[in-house]
Amino acid sequence: MRRLIAAMVMLTTARAVSTAWWRSIGAPKYICAPMVDQSELAFRELSRRYGAGLCYTPMLHAGLAAGDSGIQYLERQFTTRRGDWPLAAQFAGHDASVVCRAAERTLHLAGDNVDNVVALDLNLGCPQQIARRGRYGAWLWERDADAAVGVIRALRTQFATDERVVTAKVRILPPGDENAVRETADRCLRLADAGASLICVHGRTREQNKQLSGAANWASIKAVREALAARDVVTIANGGIGDLGDVVAAAEATGCDAVMSSEGLLANPALFVRNRDADDAYVGARRLAREYLALAEDTGAETSDARGHLFKILHGGLTARVDLRTALSTASSLNDMCAVVDALDQADPDGSLEARHDDASDRKSWYWRHRVAKVVERDPAIVQARLQRKLRKSERRNAARRRAAAAGVS
Ligand SMILES: Cc1cc2nc3c(=O)[nH]c(=O)nc-3n(C[C@H](O)[C@H](O)[C@H](O)COP(=O)(O)O)c2cc1C
Repeated sequence: MRRLIAAMVMLTTARAVSTAWWRSIGAPKYICAPMVDQSELAFRELSRRYGAGLCYTPMLHAGLAAGDSGIQYLERQFTTRRGDWPLAAQFAGHDASVVCRAAERTLHLAGDNVDNVVALDLNLGCPQQIARRGRYGAWLWERDADAAVGVIRALRTQFATDERVVTAKVRILPPGDENAVRETADRCLRLADAGASLICVHGRTREQNKQLSGAANWASIKAVREALAARDVVTIANGGIGDLGDVVAAAEATGCDAVMSSEGLLANPALFVRNRDADDAYVGARRLAREYLALAEDTGAETSDARGHLFKILHGGLTARVDLRTALSTASSLNDMCAVVDALDQADPDGSLEARHDDASDRKSWYWRHRVAKVVERDPAIVQARLQRKLRKSERRNAARRRAAAAGVS
C-alpha cells in the first residue's frame, strides 16, 4: 500500500513538473526540429522570428563531445547567445556516463546563456548507418531500449531542475504495424517513468528515410500519445509538415501538445506564420534568404550550412536559373551568397520564380517537389514496393541477429 502511494505521489510530482515546465516556456505550439548542419543558431533565430516557440540544436555526438577534443568539437557544433531561448540540446549516445559528460560540457560552454538550455534531449530517431555503428538514434531505440532508458534516468538524476528537463525524440518501431506501435508506446512509457518530461514522436519507421520517407503516420503518433496520457508527458508530433495547414491537421489528428517541422521549415522558415510578418506583409523567399544571411554573418555560421539553407529557401529561382545555382554551389563566402540573391532579384524582380508560400496550389517549393510530388503523389506504388523490400531485408537481418545472439555469438 505504502509503495502504491509513493508511486502515485511520484506520478503526480512528475506530472506537475512536466506541465509546469512546459508552461514556463510558454507552452509553444510550433517547434523547430533538431537538424545536423541545419538547426544552427542563425537558422534557429530566423525560425523564432517567424513563430517557432522551441528550437533544438543539431544532434551533438556524445562520444565526440565527451572525448579529448570534446571542447573543440562543441565549440564548432554548439553556439548559443542571448535570445536563443527556449532551446533543447540534443545528444546522441548509448553510454549514460558519456552522454552526461557531454551534457555537462555543453552547459558549461553555454556560459552566461546556460539558462537558454531548457531541455537535454536524447536522439532515438537517427536512422543512418553511422548511428548503427555508433549504437545511437533509432538503432539504440530498436536494439537496446534498456540503454536508452538508462541514459534518460542518468540525465534526469544529474541535470533535471524545475527549469531544465530531460526529453527524447523517437521513431515508430519497425515494421510500423499495430504491434510495433504498441511496443513503441510501451517503450515511451518506460522513458517517461525514467524521467522524460517530453517525448517527440516522429511518425515514421527507421526504414522510412530519404527517398522512402513517404507520408508520416499521424495515427501511430496518436496511439503513442494516448498511451502516455496517464503520465501526462508533453508530446510533440513530428513528420510530414509542408505548411501551416499540415501543422493544424497534425495537431488535430494526434492530439499532441505541439508540432515539429524539419524539411518543410527548411524550405520555408516562415511556415509557422503562413509567411506573414507583424505588419501582415508577405514574407517571401528572397527576404528569408537575406534575413538568414544577415543572421549567418552575425552569428558566424559555416558557409556550408548557409549554402544548404539557400538551396532550399531559393529552390524556385535556382531551378529556373541553373547558372545561379552553380554560382551558389561554388560560393565560398556569405558575401558571394548575397551576390547570388542580388542576381536572382535582378533577373526576377517580382520574385515570381520563387514559391508563393501563402498559396496552397503553388508547386515551386523544395518541399512540394521533393517530398510531395516525388515521394507521395507521383509514384506511391514504387515507394511502397521499395519500402516493403527494405523492411523484409531488415527483418531478415534482425532474425539473423537474434539467432546469433541465441547461439551466443556476439
Ligand atoms: C538535414 C536534416 C538533419 C536532421 N538532423 C537530425 C538530428 O540531428 N536529430 C534528429 O533527431 N533528427 C534529425 N533529423 C530528422 C528531423 O528532425 C525530423 O525528425 C524529420 O526530418 C521528419 O520531420 P519532417 O517530416 O518535418 O521533415 C534531420 C532531418 C534533416 C532533414
